[in-house]
Amino acid sequence: MNDANDYVNTHDQLSTLGGVNPSGKDSSRSSSRPSAEQRVERASEASKKLVGTKEKGNDSEPRKPKGPVGLDIGTSHIVAAQNKHNYVYSVKDLNAFFTVPNAKFAKNILSQKEIKYYENEHEFFIIGDSAQSFANMFNVNTRRPMEDGFLSPKEDVGLKVIEAIVSSLIPGPEKPGEILCFSVPGTPFEGTGSVVYHESVVKGFLEKLGYAPISINEGMATVLSELSEDDYTGIGISMGGGMCNVCLSYLSFPVITFSIQMAGDYIDSMVGKAVGEPASRIKAIKEEELDLSKEPADRVSTALHIFYDEIIFKLLETLRRVMISTDKIPKISTSIPIVLSGGTAMPRGCKEKFASKLKEINLPVGISEVRLAGDPLNTTAKGALIMAMTEAG
Ligand SMILES: Nc1ncnc2c1ncn2[C@@H]1O[C@H](COP(=O)(O)OP(=O)(O)OP(=O)(O)O)[C@@H](O)[C@H]1O
Ligand SMILES: [Mg+2]
Repeated sequence: MNDANDYVNTHDQLSTLGGVNPSGKDSSRSSSRPSAEQRVERASEASKKLVGTKEKGNDSEPRKPKGPVGLDIGTSHIVAAQNKHNYVYSVKDLNAFFTVPNAKFAKNILSQKEIKYYENEHEFFIIGDSAQSFANMFNVNTRRPMEDGFLSPKEDVGLKVIEAIVSSLIPGPEKPGEILCFSVPGTPFEGTGSVVYHESVVKGFLEKLGYAPISINEGMATVLSELSEDDYTGIGISMGGGMCNVCLSYLSFPVITFSIQMAGDYIDSMVGKAVGEPASRIKAIKEEELDLSKEPADRVSTALHIFYDEIIFKLLETLRRVMISTDKIPKISTSIPIVLSGGTAMPRGCKEKFASKLKEINLPVGISEVRLAGDPLNTTAKGALIMAMTEAG
């Protein structure tokens, strides 16, 4: 198992945590490395260029989005964000697929209904939300390219499916070498999955598409998206489908990064096992009805509360253990905010539950408040876009 100190980053690791220099040079050793003030200023400038957010289908602006791209490749969703006339313009799809045998009649049906798919010799791969519709029709589960935050070891076609979904969301760079910043998970505190492998293979296909890819830690993306008014000092926590990602940032420098492989999928599966229902049914109840601010009224909501409590406790206890194990954390004299993002942070009362558990844990830094990101499902992509715009200058 890793030592708690392995999650604390030194300044020499800056180039690989905040995003690597696309030239491949080790910017941490170059004399032109930006100071903390310059980093904060550049990120704020990029952030100020984005005055609001718009989603596909919810936008009448005729101009096309252009320039650098922020990309969130998550266990549940893939989200791409670009600047469209000073708005964050985001498009997303489910990170899932469903296969049907490659027969002629099927191709006609797929083409008529405008379903997203690609084919190989033997099968059609129906991808994204379309895969969910098909799985519902056949009353089975979709297959998923990622598990617990990383490319799934169970799916050898996973990367190809992700490539197809990404290509359907963004048209490719306007000019070769356009900067694209993609999110990567932090190293799991206890658990499995190699960030190095995941990051390398994703980077490889993005290069093939003609981009100059750089990476950003998912928790750091949350900080860049939400903490501009705090000089990017605070704790960003993205609570997603496969994992929760944490980053303590000091003046836009990611001092601590780690993940725990417990999030929405874990809740669905554990609650399902506890009450004897399929995880897919629990997921639907959780997304539509869960209110963590109310006392649970039935077996399912009782179990949902229990596993939310478990995840929040694990997050805070791990953060405490990592923080007390090191003397490398800058002395922060004032209290700092925590911001929560990701789909799992969305139920009513989640922020309040988090704030109340925080009172039971003795963190070595004061916390001023717990906030919820403005647009939790698009936060990582927005933070990645700010990073990409900062790098592009
Ligand atoms: N309104 C909601 N209430 C509760 N949970 C929700 C809600 N909306 C989405 N979720 C849950 O959020 C999770 C997906 O969140 P998100 O899209 O942020 O994850 P991801 O970025 O794809 O995954 P990860 O970051 O873990 O790789 C799923 O478990 C989903 O059930
Ligand atoms: Mg995520």
